[in-house]
Amino acid sequence: MADARLIIASNRLPFTVVDSNGRLELKASAGGLVTGLSAYLDSLQHSAFTNLVEYVWLGWPGASIDDEHKDGIKEVAATRFNAYPVFVQEETMEAFYHGFCNKTIWPLFHYFPSYVVYESESWESYREVNQYFCDAIMEVLRPSDILWIHDYHLMLLPRMIRQSMPDVPIGFFLHIPFPSFELFRLLPKKWAAGILEGLLGADLIGFHTHDYTQYFLRSVLRILGIEANMGQMFVDGRMVQADTFPMGIDFHRFNDAVVSKETEMERERLKNTLSDFKTIISVDRLDYSKGVLNRLEGFELFLKDNPQWHKKVVLLLVIVPSRIGVDRYQTIKTQIDQMVGNINGRFGTFNWMPIIYKYGHVPFHQLVALYNMSDVALITPLRDGMNLVSKEYVASRKDATGVLILSELAGASKELVEAVLINPNDRGEIAIAIKNALEMPLEEQKSRIEKMQSRLKKYDVVKWATDFIDELKDVKEGQSRFRTR
Ligand code: F6P
Repeated sequence: MADARLIIASNRLPFTVVDSNGRLELKASAGGLVTGLSAYLDSLQHSAFTNLVEYVWLGWPGASIDDEHKDGIKEVAATRFNAYPVFVQEETMEAFYHGFCNKTIWPLFHYFPSYVVYESESWESYREVNQYFCDAIMEVLRPSDILWIHDYHLMLLPRMIRQSMPDVPIGFFLHIPFPSFELFRLLPKKWAAGILEGLLGADLIGFHTHDYTQYFLRSVLRILGIEANMGQMFVDGRMVQADTFPMGIDFHRFNDAVVSKETEMERERLKNTLSDFKTIISVDRLDYSKGVLNRLEGFELFLKDNPQWHKKVVLLLVIVPSRIGVDRYQTIKTQIDQMVGNINGRFGTFNWMPIIYKYGHVPFHQLVALYNMSDVALITPLRDGMNLVSKEYVASRKDATGVLILSELAGASKELVEAVLINPNDRGEIAIAIKNALEMPLEEQKSRIEKMQSRLKKYDVVKWATDFIDELKDVKEGQSRFRTR
């Protein structure tokens, strides 16, 4: 495969088009998928071990674009990002992204069945947008390429591509949990079967944890009647593999940034306000699945039970705006605002507020400075596919001190076993974990962080992506051996 190119398809591109007073601007996108893949693609340019040097990244540019601006956006996307924008009309995108993706799939796959909306129009728009992606991919895809499709927005796409180009290697990776069969079966049969058949169009289907892989295989068996052996299934005479690839981070980007000038400046600035206190950092995209209310209740209980810690500790709560077009996200924002106000009003004094709350994007070096100077990270999702913030915190602890409190319902808890693991539904357990973390001896902190760091260094994002692509090539080779027998 001398001239194999890697074609990436994801809903979000590494840039987002924003309208700034009538002028269209390209801003870097946020989120684990984009940051992780960008680091991997960057590494390809410097690697001597792969022939996959060329890539094209297809995705939605983040806004609906007028016809007159499409060519301009296409050109900048290609020259600056090797990207190929998939243009979708605003109403279709609304029903797709704010509808089926984030009102149906997201809550169901994160175990919030009562939040799920079942609307046949939004299922139709899901199919329609997957078809737009298929059409756009077919404009660039060559039979010698490798196609890697990402995330829950594009689960019908592998099969659509397979029907147009039967032999091309197709990988799919799901960045969110795959739910247990009992949850998945809540979807109308046609949708559930459509999603599974869509995914089985790929040659390799990857998940963050072993449990998600097993849940997927169980649903394939119960709904489609296809059995698996060691994750291998035969679909229309073709071998398909499901496997586990826990996504890592760009460890050195965080670890090295700790000693950069920019981070040093940020740290100095923050020290002016925070040096008298122990600090607890909490960073999330706005989402009900992140368990921020539980976290705040746990912190409130900690303050109630531990007056000796008053005026000595501050919770730095960062919430990054997200999906504000979905009602549930508006609601959770209001609830967080209120609870922060209540806690500060209840315990705060004129010279100490227990919570410093920032709703907005935090630039990279400021984020690293916050991670680096915080004694504790408090991460309590009610459900999370992986949770890369927990890994970023560990990577940013250059001197190996610090304590990570992590929900056992985050995918990352399967790897970061030296964290203080808690059940996010147990406020009492969160409160005790906060006290124990703040009082943990340095020796114990170091021994825990060092073990986690060595694991994160070894299995970083480049290793994650390389493993996936290597296994995809192996599966493809296995298929051709099977055919020639
Ligand atoms: O967790 C799934 C995911 O796609 C992440 O990869 C990403 O950080 C986040 O959701 C971003 O969501 P959105 O594209 O809706 O802003």
